[in-house]
Amino acid sequence: MNIKKLNSILVLLLIVVSFSASSQNALEESMNKGKRIYASNCITCHMANGEGVSGAFPPLAKSDYLSNIEKTIEVILNGASGEMKVNGKSYYGTMVSFSMLTNQQIADVMNYIQNSWGNESEVVDAKLVEKVRN
Ligand code: HEC
Repeated sequence: MNIKKLNSILVLLLIVVSFSASSQNALEESMNKGKRIYASNCITCHMANGEGVSGAFPPLAKSDYLSNIEKTIEVILNGASGEMKVNGKSYYGTMVSFSMLTNQQIADVMNYIQNSWGNESEVVDAKLVEKVRN
């Protein structure tokens, strides 16, 4: 391989590495903001460890509900009541609406709950929240 070819491969590699590092930082930044939003709006019912309260408030940690991202955004935006199944257990509580939060704040709290307590998911941005809101 000649040195020119090697150089362009190295440059490409650098671009890929710095790109993935910056998207990692974006997620971390959003999660940090989301953690504060969670602490002031969600923690009383879903608890600091995301385990909820047995029989009353469903868990967010390892919740199968979270696999549907748009439906999860909908619950945060509109609230929910009546029967809801989470990990095979039925809950009949009322989750209040958080439509007063901005699209960015909902994206931040989504990124926090979707990537904490062993959860893992793709990054949610304000545009997706906007789309679900309308
Ligand atoms: C007053 C208590 C309360 C607060 C505060 C609350 N929730 Fe909930 N949440 C509930 C209940 C109860 C349900 C189940 C609703 C049902 O039974 O229909 C629920 C369901 C959910 C679900 C879907 C089910 C699951 O466990 O995966 C998500 C996601 C969720 N809440 C996220 C949040 C977020 C994020 C916040 C803060 C912005 C929040 N909740 C604040 C009580 C609450």
